[in-house]
Amino acid sequence: MSAELAFKPRILGIICNWCCYGGADLAGVSRFQYPPYIRLIRVMCSGRVEMEHILRAFSNGQDAVFIGGCHLSDCHYNTEGNYDAIRMVSICKKILERIGMNPERLRLEWVSAGEGIRFANIMNEFGREIERLGPLGKSEGMDEKTLKSKLEAVTKLVPYIKLVDIERLRVRFKTDEEYSEFFSSGEGNRLFEETVGEKLADSQIIALLRERPLVTGEIAKVLDLTPSDVSRHLNNSIRHGLVRYDEGLKCYALA
Ligand code: FES
Repeated sequence: MSAELAFKPRILGIICNWCCYGGADLAGVSRFQYPPYIRLIRVMCSGRVEMEHILRAFSNGQDAVFIGGCHLSDCHYNTEGNYDAIRMVSICKKILERIGMNPERLRLEWVSAGEGIRFANIMNEFGREIERLGPLGKSEGMDEKTLKSKLEAVTKLVPYIKLVDIERLRVRFKTDEEYSEFFSSGEGNRLFEETVGEKLADSQIIALLRERPLVTGEIAKVLDLTPSDVSRHLNNSIRHGLVRYDEGLKCYALA
């Protein structure tokens, strides 16, 4: 058997107590099979799952993360946490894509306590998909150090992202399709760029310069940005006293 076929992913599932966990339980008592490498953690509501938990799971070697909650409008709390979950996961997927990770490694689904078969089917399908994608990092052409550095740069931004989310990205729709449409629309992309995207590029550049001084072209290549975009971000960081131009080395370094 080839190494590709033998790959057994590590998948973390974070599921809400009132619906998805009930579905998982029913799958268990009904003896519906799903991959044993999916480990489940129970939380009271999908809205309690933070972006930081997802990034930490990836940093600690999980190949994929699954979030499960009650169907929209069925959340057991007045705060309707599953609407927070769908927005957070939509933003997180865009961030993963931006740092070169496959966003399909993060999946959000709604499963009621009576849907044991649905739970097992989703787990089987997700497991197959991640087996096909292969190990995190390797499949994305990133070594472990690069992957960790990128995830660390994003994790540092999480408090800022939460503020932005509250102020500008706190959209509310009725269906999954409407969320998906918004976050892939021109308006959704523009809002993401203006808020999270710009800060993310700054943070990634700082993380790269922490390793060694670099010239604009090297940064542009690693981050898949244009040299003029990199110059704009560098000038911004220089203005904030975070980066300096080293005349001797003829490259940029941390201030
Ligand atoms: Fe299940 Fe809120 S209680 S998503």
